[in-house]
Amino acid sequence: MGTSSPRKAAPTWLVGKLVRLRPLEPNDVALLQRWVNTSPARDFINTRLPFSREQERDWLAHAASDPKTPTFIIQTRRGTDIGVIGLQLDEPRSARATLGISIFERRYWDRGCGTDAVRTLVDGAFRAMPLVRIELVVLADNERAIRCYERAGFAREGVLRRVLYHLGRRKDAVVMSALHEEWLARASR
Ligand SMILES: CC(C)(COP(=O)(O)OP(=O)(O)OC[C@H]1O[C@@H](n2cnc3c(N)ncnc32)[C@H](O)[C@@H]1OP(=O)(O)O)[C@@H](O)C(=O)NCCC(=O)NCCS
Repeated sequence: MGTSSPRKAAPTWLVGKLVRLRPLEPNDVALLQRWVNTSPARDFINTRLPFSREQERDWLAHAASDPKTPTFIIQTRRGTDIGVIGLQLDEPRSARATLGISIFERRYWDRGCGTDAVRTLVDGAFRAMPLVRIELVVLADNERAIRCYERAGFAREGVLRRVLYHLGRRKDAVVMSALHEEWLARASR
């Protein structure tokens, strides 16, 4: 079955228009390890690679159990696993969270899945948690990601100059955020 999950959607899943977000499962270790070590998405992520099976297992165990890191597999509505999305909170009932996303299956880029996954997670998070803002930092030359976040409803806040070391160069990064109050106003329009 490759990366497909034949299971039916559980009621706790977040469902968007193009994708749904399912919880991590212990047997996602091999999938995640393949993705993180081989996907073209690596070129846009600031992580030290490769990840060993043990590191991946530790990452998954932590991400799946810590209330400060709600993390999901992004799945197409037809059941194909295509990436990962999650939040990082300072504390379980924090007012701020940081969003991260990677669609590891390259053939699903530029089809609106990222925008839909971001909207779906942010919408669910603002409903379920007392968050005031959800923020992220993206490399300034990652135009696809910036466009995706803007389409989803994030605003640019500013540029952190030469803040990240990426693929041998120091690069600028853009800070973006979504505010709960703006999100509610958009949703009611
Ligand atoms: C970034 C990512 C999550 C976006 O998801 P996606 O499903 O590809 O994005 P979407 O299709 O929803 O939106 C992408 C938009 O960017 C546009 N785009 C693509 N390449 C672009 C470029 N070079 N310049 C400007 N816009 C670009 C697309 O046309 C689309 O906009 P449109 O629908 O208005 O035409 C996904 O591509 C990904 O995981 N990439 C690799 C890892 C990564 O960059 N993660 C983010 C780290 S901060």
